[in-house]
Amino acid sequence: MPNLPADDLAKELAAAARIVVFTGAGISTESGIPDFRSPGGVWSRMKPIYFQDFVSSEDSRREAWRRTFNGAAGWVGKEPNAGHFAVARLIAEDRASAVITQNVDNLHQASGVAAERVIELHGNASYATCLGCGLRHELEDLRPLFVDKGRIPVCTGCGELVKTATVSFGQPMPEEPMMRAREETEACDLFLVLGSSLVVTPASHFPVRAKRNGARLVIVNREATPLDDIADVVLNTEIGPTLTAAMRDLS
Ligand code: APR
Repeated sequence: MPNLPADDLAKELAAAARIVVFTGAGISTESGIPDFRSPGGVWSRMKPIYFQDFVSSEDSRREAWRRTFNGAAGWVGKEPNAGHFAVARLIAEDRASAVITQNVDNLHQASGVAAERVIELHGNASYATCLGCGLRHELEDLRPLFVDKGRIPVCTGCGELVKTATVSFGQPMPEEPMMRAREETEACDLFLVLGSSLVVTPASHFPVRAKRNGARLVIVNREATPLDDIADVVLNTEIGPTLTAAMRDLS
């Protein structure tokens, strides 16, 4: 019987005492959300809006809110897929301690992973926060202002600018999630990468840190990544079916 990709993954999952799952946009493509760097990905259709441009240019703010409310990047309003549910099972069965995600689509939480087990390095696109006082604003409350009246959202508390709670290029990384990601990375014995091209730093430093710390490194990604040569196992397969099959016999 030939060794199937899922068999190698099943062995790694069964042998691990404490898994950290690290996800990128590739885990959400099976939910209908385009990733960033595959052909037709988000960055092939629109340029990222840098944080300093959002803050300094009303046109950039208008474009950013237009993308949010017309769903241009496709992040919100989608459902979790088999890959998300398999990750949620790893957490529920206490095999995985946390999910470190670069994604902003809230699908790990939507698949049943408790919010405190999801470490969002690049924030979350499903709500907005004030850049001045941090007050949370729901997108649906802001939609009529912008869509019907063309007014750019400002904080209902302090009047400062409001932005979706994502970390834009040029914006500082969130301290607390970065600290928690470091702690989890150094405590695991298996670091499982699911669906990331591993080209964006500092997020892509975590798999290197895990490996250097003695953990096993498994990468499940459709295409090759720059970290494949330090990984213990590389599976260039679809995440949903592969992870589901690997967990079938996990007792
Ligand atoms: N199964 C396995 N791999 C997949 C699947 C799938 N169903 N779908 C896509 N992939 C792979 C692609 O081949 C690609 O290598 O997932 C990877 C996604 O890579 P990117 O599009 O670069 O996304 P990501 O690594 O998450 O980007 C990191 O870049 O622009 C920033 O903030 C943005 O968080 C994002 C960061």
